[in-house]
Amino acid sequence: MELRHLRYFVAVAEERNFTRAAARLHIAQPPLSRQIQQLEQDLGVALIEKGSRPLRLTEAGQFFLAHAKPLLDQVRDLKAMTQRVGQLERTLAIGFVASTLYGQLPEIVRRYRERHPEVEVTLHEMTTVEQLAALKDGRIDVGFGRLKSEDASIRRILLREERMVVALPLNHRLALRAGGVRLTELVNERLLVYPKAPRPSFADQVLGIFGAANLAPGQVTEVRELQIAMGLVAAGQGLSIVPESVQGMHHGNVVYRALEDKHAFSPILFSVRHMDRSPELEAMLATVYAVYDDLHIPHEKESL
Ligand code: BEZ
Repeated sequence: MELRHLRYFVAVAEERNFTRAAARLHIAQPPLSRQIQQLEQDLGVALIEKGSRPLRLTEAGQFFLAHAKPLLDQVRDLKAMTQRVGQLERTLAIGFVASTLYGQLPEIVRRYRERHPEVEVTLHEMTTVEQLAALKDGRIDVGFGRLKSEDASIRRILLREERMVVALPLNHRLALRAGGVRLTELVNERLLVYPKAPRPSFADQVLGIFGAANLAPGQVTEVRELQIAMGLVAAGQGLSIVPESVQGMHHGNVVYRALEDKHAFSPILFSVRHMDRSPELEAMLATVYAVYDDLHIPHEKESL
């Protein structure tokens, strides 16, 4: 059994159709069918129920799929990790969601560069979902994101839970009074959520806090990114719920108010490839905790 048999079988099982699987693998269908037959002969058991449309897996097929996928993930990680170990120059490619730029990200990166001038650091803005793909492809080494999505090949460390606040136009009635705002006061407002794609995203986290409080915002407009949402709030087009660090943006014509809801928190997560324990990452995690401690920011603490 070769690795390609695993890759071919996973594609067929996920697509539940030989034609689509062949297209996904960029091969013709007859060789794909032959490879799956070879695999079944080699194992001596049927993996796919004969004549099923859409295609169904046998019990053995389901077992094989469940174990083949993590194996393929490990092979992909092994490739990215070996390339990393073999690099002569030490590099650290960081993926980050835009809102972290207004939080501690600049200070963390500045401090990291100061302490580790031998490491070439690069920064890449991307959503949390994009970070997962970029980690797997080896385009980034660490992602700072906000979604707790499950993926067996990624290790996530929760850094802290950040409060959410509401960003209001300067002359909005809720901005004219002091004090916090409750979610019930926002259901009839036009809510600007971001990013529109890819999903799930911070937009779903914001809608989720309404759902958790048994509320449904009446008017929701999805926008491409944080900066667009903030520009539209400044223009009086609606309001937006954002992590509290976004207040550091100091947007003219925008007022921030605390959100008084027990669910109104957004996690900040440190995501890496499961097997990656490189010294650059250890040092990055240590730098994050050092900045938190110096600024008295409450946080979780885990090691790599
Ligand atoms: C933070 O604001 O807590 C943070 C932002 C980016 C990376 C790590 C932490």
